[in-house]
Amino acid sequence: MSLIKFIPANVTIDAAKDTKLLVVARKNQIPIRFGCASARCGTCAVKVSDPSAFLPMQSNEESLLKRINLPTGGEVRLACQARNSGTTDTMVDISFQETYSPDDLEGDGSL
Ligand code: FES
Repeated sequence: MSLIKFIPANVTIDAAKDTKLLVVARKNQIPIRFGCASARCGTCAVKVSDPSAFLPMQSNEESLLKRINLPTGGEVRLACQARNSGTTDTMVDISFQETYSPDDLEGDGSL
């Protein structure tokens, strides 16, 4: 278990290891934008304060972040893909979703 603090909601959740960030947010009524829940639409990206709070990114997540011109170093994660590492507390900034648009992606997730 580790603590995830969602801002600007200012809600802290004790989250189980390996739980997807989107699941944690939805179960706790955190207002978060999302669409496909499968690394295809790009709507669910959030900013995290400590990348080690999540398990390493898989190729599908990294590929989509690149296509929508978002950083792939771990400071931005797709909430539908990022799984809690259970080792580190972190802050997740949902307001980051207001700073980018995944509109460059078309229906099947390709450009
Ligand atoms: S909800 Fe579509 S990429 Fe995460």
